[in-house]
Amino acid sequence: MKPEFQRNGKSSIPEALRLDHADLCAALAGIAADPGPIGAAALRLARLCVPHFEQEEHVVFPVFGLLRDLATADVRPEMAELLPLISEFHASQVGREHQMIVAAVQALQQAARAEDCSQVLAFTNRLQDHERIEDEVIYPAVNLVGKYLRLSLGHPARPRPPAPARIWHPAYSAGRSCRASRRNGGNA
Ligand SMILES: [Fe+2]
Ligand SMILES: [Fe+2]
Repeated sequence: MKPEFQRNGKSSIPEALRLDHADLCAALAGIAADPGPIGAAALRLARLCVPHFEQEEHVVFPVFGLLRDLATADVRPEMAELLPLISEFHASQVGREHQMIVAAVQALQQAARAEDCSQVLAFTNRLQDHERIEDEVIYPAVNLVGKYLRLSLGHPARPRPPAPARIWHPAYSAGRSCRASRRNGGNA
């Protein structure tokens, strides 16, 4: 099976998830083109984010292609083909990569504050929100879908995973305190 769960020959990864990554990457690429310290910090962040996003699109987002069917209790045996992908997610470093991304975001914020660049600060807030939603909603939902599939299809439960990767920490909130960004309310 292809990484994405296929139905009627079409990928069922929710487009909103894929588009959010594409928008963030485009904005980050634009900031990285800056010739000064902001661009250098953005480039370091991009080197973390781009492979991280690709990995999420490989082992995380395909799981959400099942949601509409699962919501109507339409559970089919072929959906078990996603279970190895969910195991791959658990074994991967993808959740732990958020820690490195937070540190790189902070460096970009520092560079943006030094130049009073509200647009870049607004972008960092947006990226922080993105990763926070993944920590608090998306990643736990992958675990939930895996458990529901195993229960529904009669597959043995997988060994209890280590405590969920709750990467969130006060550093994220620190980024949200940027008054310049709030005043301007701009988007990257
Ligand atoms: Fe993401
Ligand atoms: Fe992420």
